[in-house]
Amino acid sequence: MVQFNLPANSKVLKGNYFKSTTGSKNIKKINIYRWDPSKNENPKIDTFEVDLESCGNKVLDILNKIKNEIDSTLTYRRSCAHGVCGSCAMNVDGINTLSCMKSHKEINGDINIYPLPHLKVIKDLVADLSTLYRQYESIQPWLKAHEQKSKTTEINQSKENRKKLDGLYECIMCACCSTSCPSYWWNGEKYLGPAVLLQAYRWIIDSRDEERKERLKIISDKLKLFGCHTIMNCTNSCPKGLNPAKAISSLKKMLATN
Ligand code: SF4
Ligand code: SF4
Ligand code: FES
Repeated sequence: MVQFNLPANSKVLKGNYFKSTTGSKNIKKINIYRWDPSKNENPKIDTFEVDLESCGNKVLDILNKIKNEIDSTLTYRRSCAHGVCGSCAMNVDGINTLSCMKSHKEINGDINIYPLPHLKVIKDLVADLSTLYRQYESIQPWLKAHEQKSKTTEINQSKENRKKLDGLYECIMCACCSTSCPSYWWNGEKYLGPAVLLQAYRWIIDSRDEERKERLKIISDKLKLFGCHTIMNCTNSCPKGLNPAKAISSLKKMLATN
């Protein structure tokens, strides 16, 4: 039988325990993945006892409370706190989600928080999204409307054509879908993944865009698009309720019929 040996520094160790001193009866234990590139140490799981009596309802409120009151070195991304910017995506209780949208009241027992899976970690809960952003850039996510003198003239769109963008324009590029996709885990450098493919589709079906053929050519590749095996993890994990798997299957259909 094949034996796999992981390097010793990949082992996640037990970290520090931060006990609450509030005397509150409403304490929740939060286990958080920690890794600091400036220290030559293994990653570890720190446990924080957090007093929920003085904490907002969302998982992000817990993280902010820990950072403000217990350990200021805890590192994570966040900005809008309203599910708009996509920066606070992480793995909470085994599911990729936006920590500012996820209520901790829905989680029984301890809460486990990790960075988005299968990406390099920059520090603590901050995952490296540079490959995903490069892939996003490669699909040229902007309107290309040369003929219609777009710079000076308003480009009209019928109600029906505008409707085609529903379920696509709402994507905030949080990467919850791509980092829950097994095909993207194993082939993330070559397969574009559901977030970028949903964005590609969003521009391809925009009636105002004049480069549909060129855009289809960019993604028409055995690995870039057809790396998707319709496993559906992407759609199940989208915190905005979007359906990237459907966008991918529409792209495949377009290529088959064009
Ligand atoms: S489709 Fe959903 S999960 Fe994927 S990047 Fe967009 S908003 Fe995030
Ligand atoms: S449907 Fe395609 S993109 Fe979505 S999780 Fe499955 S393989 Fe990945
Ligand atoms: S902080 Fe902006 S989406 Fe969560």
